[in-house]
Amino acid sequence: MSHIKNENILNIAVEAGLSASDIIMEAINKPREAMHKGLTDLVTETDLKSEKIIKAFISRHFPKHSIMAEESIKEENNSDYLWIIDPLDGTTNFVHGYPSYSVSIGVYYKNEPIVGVVIEMPHLKIYSAIRNKGAWCEGIPINCSNTKLIKDSLLITGFGYNHGDLWEKNMLLFKYFTDICHGVRRLGSAAIDICHIAAGQADGFWEFDLHPWDTAAGILIAKESGCRITKLNGLKYNIYDKSILVTNGEIHDEMLDAIKNQLN
Ligand code: IPD
Ligand code: CA
Ligand code: CA
Repeated sequence: MSHIKNENILNIAVEAGLSASDIIMEAINKPREAMHKGLTDLVTETDLKSEKIIKAFISRHFPKHSIMAEESIKEENNSDYLWIIDPLDGTTNFVHGYPSYSVSIGVYYKNEPIVGVVIEMPHLKIYSAIRNKGAWCEGIPINCSNTKLIKDSLLITGFGYNHGDLWEKNMLLFKYFTDICHGVRRLGSAAIDICHIAAGQADGFWEFDLHPWDTAAGILIAKESGCRITKLNGLKYNIYDKSILVTNGEIHDEMLDAIKNQLN
């Protein structure tokens, strides 16, 4: 057992996330200049400022914890605690002023998620979870949907910046599922996408090629709201894996079967 109360960690994660979201919301009303990390992969000054303030919070309150954040090198302190941060998930949306971007903070203890916080912007909704205690949106408990069949479902996916083999595979899945369900959304912030499944606003999310900071917080929020999470081949998911399927549980096997059929 960890000696710090998970509730205390959640409070600091929320405080840090809100300070970061203040910076992001202030920047949304000003000109936003993007630099390219890859052909389509953008980063802004705001990503960097957001990351800096979150890391400063962690260092102030938990100086011995390790930190993995998207825009900097991992700070390894040989701690059992690891904070995994996406300072701005949905940077492309942020740059264009399209409304789906977030701050994502996941806290791991001995490689298990214990706290997750995702702050959805621009309408500032705080999704959070504590291991074995539940998941909340704005402090109100959330549960995933109970839609039983893909044909009655709303699904979400995303496309990474690397337009290779996995991207091609996802195009196939996007087409296939669009044809057999109520619709497939592609919003552009994986952390928010997963929270929408957790809150029962959609029934299943899948993506290839995500990074640990995209899913670290979301998967705890999803798990605590009753979701099932695996890789796209049905095996146990961990945040370093290259594919993820998050569903309400009810449509999980049907989706796995469909994915297997489509990709083989
Ligand atoms: C991206 C978003 C997007 C997903 C990409 C991610 P970023 O993160 O989560 O939804 O499709 O794969 O890289 O670059 O905006 O932090
Ligand atoms: Ca991201
Ligand atoms: Ca990011």
